Amino acid sequence: MTYLVRDARPADLPGIRDIYNDAVLNTTAIWNEQAVDLANRQAWFDARQSQGYPVLVVADADENVLGYASFGDWRPFDGFRHTVEHSVYVRSDQRGNGLGPLLMASLIERARACGKHVMVAAIESGNTASIRLHERAGFVTTGQMPQVGTKFGRWLDLTFMQLMLNPGAPAPAVDKE
Ligand SMILES: CC(C)(COP(=O)(O)OP(=O)(O)OC[C@H]1O[C@@H](n2cnc3c(N)ncnc32)[C@H](O)[C@@H]1OP(=O)(O)O)[C@@H](O)C(=O)NCCC(=O)NCCS
Repeated sequence: MTYLVRDARPADLPGIRDIYNDAVLNTTAIWNEQAVDLANRQAWFDARQSQGYPVLVVADADENVLGYASFGDWRPFDGFRHTVEHSVYVRSDQRGNGLGPLLMASLIERARACGKHVMVAAIESGNTASIRLHERAGFVTTGQMPQVGTKFGRWLDLTFMQLMLNPGAPAPAVDKE
């Protein structure tokens, strides 16, 4: 099977919505329980585009969306502008085929190309597939937060992992007008 990682197009949004909604309804990867419609994903896609941030898909030869990945600002304060938080999702019938690692490798390169310094992953602590995926991509665990969330009638713990994109880079100079 040939897989291609590329920038998402509007025609990919129904596939992205379906993967997202499956994760909402059936997993603790996303901590809400409300499925979304196409307009919601269109607004999300437009926001990422307007920020110059990538939305990547991995597609098969028939252009079926098998997974997607993206990042956004980690926190909405100027001092965090060199740090992004990402998400990566693979369609449920395609997991375990190495598509997550393909998406992550491309997303990391795009974060470097955007001049980012740190990527943050916020992962439900029981999500061993995601934790292993991130370890293999070079992420290290930098935080553990017990019971900060809830879904499916139980508390959820959060594990923070991060990747330094350009270790040793000097901090940005102070702007002098
Ligand atoms: C986490 C995720 C992106 C990993 O992507 P992937 O393409 O499945 O990654 P890999 O192919 O490297 O497989 C990851 C692990 O899942 C295992 N796996 C195999 N078949 C699987 C299946 N049917 N379902 C789930 N995991 C499976 C793999 O063996 C591998 O385990 P290992 O690390 O012990 O070797 C993907 O499982 C996913 O989309 N999960 C739901 C959403 C999610 O959790 N996203 C991350 C939020 S932080």
